[in-house]
Amino acid sequence: MSRHALVTGAGTGIGAAIAKQLHGEGCNVSLVGRRLEPLAAVAKTLGGACQAITGDVTDRESVEKAFTRATDSFGPVEILINCAGVAPTAPFHRIEFADWQKTLDVNLNGVFHCTQVALDGMKSAGWGRIVTIASTASLRGFAYVSGYCASKHAALGLTRALALETARSGITVNAVCPSYVDTDIVREAIQDIMTKTGRSEAEALKHFTQSSPQGRLIEASEVAASVSWLCSENAASVTGQAIAIDGGSTA
Ligand SMILES: NC(=O)c1ccc[n+]([C@@H]2O[C@H](COP(=O)([O-])OP(=O)(O)OC[C@H]3O[C@@H](n4cnc5c(N)ncnc54)[C@H](OP(=O)(O)O)[C@@H]3O)[C@@H](O)[C@H]2O)c1
Repeated sequence: MSRHALVTGAGTGIGAAIAKQLHGEGCNVSLVGRRLEPLAAVAKTLGGACQAITGDVTDRESVEKAFTRATDSFGPVEILINCAGVAPTAPFHRIEFADWQKTLDVNLNGVFHCTQVALDGMKSAGWGRIVTIASTASLRGFAYVSGYCASKHAALGLTRALALETARSGITVNAVCPSYVDTDIVREAIQDIMTKTGRSEAEALKHFTQSSPQGRLIEASEVAASVSWLCSENAASVTGQAIAIDGGSTA
């Protein structure tokens, strides 16, 4: 598959795993995020056929510039992976409106900007794949992350509506919904719990695994493999879907 894939949030965690997976399958990959350093580090591990491009998904001008740079090197974006995201935690009554807005800006409006900018090229080509990294927080509520839940539910709503609008254009639009993934963020949260509560690593880990029937964290490579399948020719009839990657926790 020598297609051009643009992955936002590609410098770390799940985005880096997706970039690696798609690159391994022969895609030319544009890695987008705000900080050049992690993007360049991922690009270095991949070797050729990829480029690190700084861009802020909340800023339309910045998104357009990033897409222009990406397109100049590898042609129109054929695969868009919306992975950039933030997940602040706070009880609802303590959330400042500016922080609420920031969460929606990245997790929802960022998806809006990138998807809208990618869509014209996909329509002209009569082929496209858009996958948003949503969350089990798109499917159910979780306490103390109301902004995250609201933004991820909304991103799934956008996915479903756009899938219907593009159904006859060769473009599919889907979301994957992981539960807790074994990334730096989750590992840091485990360390944080250990420091603050004196719990052991196994006890702190349990906080993240107890809701999973499989009793474990998800690997970023498992999310990447599902994304890869959604981007394949064989998944051409799969659109508007929310694929839960959660060890059965929403079953
Ligand atoms: N880890 C989990 O357990 C889990 C579970 C379900 C869903 N998810 C979702 O998976 C996605 C990736 O999460 P992760 O766990 O891999 O976390 P992560 O390592 O923090 O990745 C988030 C990425 O988004 C980028 N980003 C943040 N704000 C941005 C902006 N305004 N413009 C462009 N890029 C921006 C960050 O790079 P810069 O800071 O350099 O911009 C970073 O590379 C998120 O959408 C998250 O909600 C994660």
